Amino acid sequence: MLVLGIESSCDETAAAVVEDGRFLRSNVISSQIDVHRKYGGVVPEIASRKHIEAIGPVILQALEDAKVTLDSIDGIAVTRGPGLVGSLLVGLSVAKAMAFAKGIPFVGVNHLEGHIAAIFLTEDPPDFPFISLVVSGGHTNIYLARGFQNFKVLGQTRDDAAGEAFDKAAKLLDIGYPGGVTIDRMARKGNPDWLRFPRALKNDLDFSFSGLKTSLVMNMKRREKPLDKSELHDLTASYQEAIVDVLVEKTLRAAEMCAVYRIVVCGGVAANSRLREKFFEAAAQKGVMLYFPPSVLCTDNAAMIAVVGEHFLTKGHKDALDLNAISKWPLDVVV
Ligand code: KG4
Ligand code: ZN
Repeated sequence: MLVLGIESSCDETAAAVVEDGRFLRSNVISSQIDVHRKYGGVVPEIASRKHIEAIGPVILQALEDAKVTLDSIDGIAVTRGPGLVGSLLVGLSVAKAMAFAKGIPFVGVNHLEGHIAAIFLTEDPPDFPFISLVVSGGHTNIYLARGFQNFKVLGQTRDDAAGEAFDKAAKLLDIGYPGGVTIDRMARKGNPDWLRFPRALKNDLDFSFSGLKTSLVMNMKRREKPLDKSELHDLTASYQEAIVDVLVEKTLRAAEMCAVYRIVVCGGVAANSRLREKFFEAAAQKGVMLYFPPSVLCTDNAAMIAVVGEHFLTKGHKDALDLNAISKWPLDVVV
């Protein structure tokens, strides 16, 4: 089965063609990062307008790269939520229009389920059940994944998402937008033990990153002179280390609590090199199997949406043309 995936939940307009829910035939991503940079964050109204401009060419490119036309597409999968409603509606409307015009079935997909399903595009994916850490700009959740549409939330953030903690720090330090990838790069040259940032490590599986951010603000205020380059590298490395430590510790704790020794780490922050390094070290020590999608499938893309779509379409499920977008849609709530 050939599924066309469409994703427009935030600031990436993406389309992809996936075969049998396993093989990537094309994966086109048009990022709006340059447009939002000067505002230091995603401006929803601008994001919607940019999706409208990009979506047609992105879909055509995905079909061309896969060397197919719409006539050979068996189903369309589109992100229905969670995300910015104005942005989601662009992808959803285009998917419905194509489905109606060509008589192709379409399904609306949960973006978070998509992030997890990205792992099925890798060569040797795990079987269910597994523990999944979804760590992105909007979410930091640990799930027990028992199957498609069968997720139990074990922990979640009480305030900022981990990606937000990266992005806000980068904004504060004025080192670039979006912050995660910049901090990842700078931290490679720094000493992670230079400064000990607080780690919220209570006994539960929830996360909290607001104290960490406040600690950075206080630290900056106390400084009498601006940081030089090497101090900035050390500071970003120390800050990143605090985020990474908590993510690794709590996810491994979840695996032990559930006695499920397979972990999938996904979402934009899963592209972080230090997170990968420390997760692999810790998992090896505990005898846990660890799975990361490649970086390009960790950040937002449409291939992961097509994988979930394939699952529903092969079961004969299709959505009606009056399907609406959902801005907040927890993964453990079936709608
Ligand atoms: O999954 P994603 O592309 O979009 C959402 O669904 O939110 O994640 C975006 C987030 C941003 O906060 C970005 O700073 C972070 O992922 N990110 C990273 C890295 N690459 C992207 N964070 C840390 N290290 C990275 N290499
Ligand atoms: Zn995402």
